[in-house]
Amino acid sequence: MSTPVVNTVKTPASGTLREGAFGNATHLVCRECSATQSLGAFYACAECFGPLEIGYQFPAVTREQIEAGPKNIWRYQPLLPVPTDIASSPNMEPGFTRLLKADNLGAALGIKNLWVKDDSGNPTHSFKDRVVAVALSAARELEMKVFACPSTGNLANAVAAAGARAGMKTVVFIPHDLERAKVLTTAVYGGTLIAVKGNYDDVNRLASEIAGEEEGWAFVNVNVRPYYAEGSKTLGYEVAEQLGWRLPQQVVIPVASGSQLTKVDKGFAEFVKLGLVEDTPYKIFGAQANGCSPVSAAFKDGQDVVRPVKPDTIAKSLAIGNPADGPYVLDAVRRTGGAIEDVTDDEVRDGIQLLARTEGVFAETAGGVTVAVLKKLVETGKLDPDQETVVFNTGDGLKTLDAIADRVGPAATIDPSYAAFTATGLA
Ligand SMILES: Cc1ncc(COP(=O)(O)O)c(C=O)c1O
Ligand SMILES: [Zn+2]
Repeated sequence: MSTPVVNTVKTPASGTLREGAFGNATHLVCRECSATQSLGAFYACAECFGPLEIGYQFPAVTREQIEAGPKNIWRYQPLLPVPTDIASSPNMEPGFTRLLKADNLGAALGIKNLWVKDDSGNPTHSFKDRVVAVALSAARELEMKVFACPSTGNLANAVAAAGARAGMKTVVFIPHDLERAKVLTTAVYGGTLIAVKGNYDDVNRLASEIAGEEEGWAFVNVNVRPYYAEGSKTLGYEVAEQLGWRLPQQVVIPVASGSQLTKVDKGFAEFVKLGLVEDTPYKIFGAQANGCSPVSAAFKDGQDVVRPVKPDTIAKSLAIGNPADGPYVLDAVRRTGGAIEDVTDDEVRDGIQLLARTEGVFAETAGGVTVAVLKKLVETGKLDPDQETVVFNTGDGLKTLDAIADRVGPAATIDPSYAAFTATGLA
């Protein structure tokens, strides 16, 4: 493993941060040793190399204040490391996606009270628009010049699109064998797209090296990761708000790097702390694909450390073999009394079809993983079917058509005549 590089360059380039550049965020804090440092393009602790996250001094925030905000993640501006004028800067305005009551899927799985948080409705059709919007704000405030990322696909879409809208140069690095749809839906935005001969973990290593060498490059999930990660809190905030200002009892979340899962937990905890919801218990469940399940394996083995794996699964968006937030996922899941499960590629396909057929929601492979894991958790008695449950669909099935290409299609191909139609017996 390469040593993390601490960016010691004074940022922003001009040396002074704009007043209120990071809203109510006040500092960076190490998740391992709690050492603090000032806000900037830092991601590793100067004391122990541990990962940094954002610390705040939150003002009093009311439900009414949030409800009066825009119908996107900026309604939570006081709780994010972004300035008060964020909504007026050119950005993708992600968030406030639908929370669907999923009675049909619930009936199919024997779950009484089930919801789907459908984040495929974001501008580039995955939850990544949330994290990228916050990272973009940080990159701007730190006067960084290049907006970049290593990506398993969805992040590539989100960075390329947001950079284009913000008028920033973008450079996106992807594994060379990504789904064609994800390649094209990144390249269309016109930035630089580089395919790397290797898997995501190789791409990520290369990105860390470039971030350490080049000045002014904001790799959203590397050197501005503390800001980026905060975007996922909004998934937790929205679920609580959309349920009528209360927490669900169980939530099932896909895990790649593990950032999203840990930040949904942080979002719930912050809402409790701010008195926006009652302090009711919730369990967090993690979902991985069999062919890349290092966090699930550690959970089942009772380990605190995650042993890296070489991914081999159709769920390419979740194919991170060396997940940065793996140990923190284990913490959150164990602390809340949840579990982590993994499913085969065939179960992922089943999950995609089940969600589509019961609720009319076409999920990306990550959503297939999550629905299939939900099913397995119920069948194995790890998830309580009598408790209110939210399952996340974090991406759009149009991005991963190959997953179901061999399974679905027309019932018949016929001549354009009534006789030909009746001959099929499909009337
Ligand atoms: C659609 C989708 N869902 C979930 C994830 C997992 O996100 P995280 O890396 O925060 O665990 C990803 C990551 O790329 C993704 O693309
Ligand atoms: Zn530290």
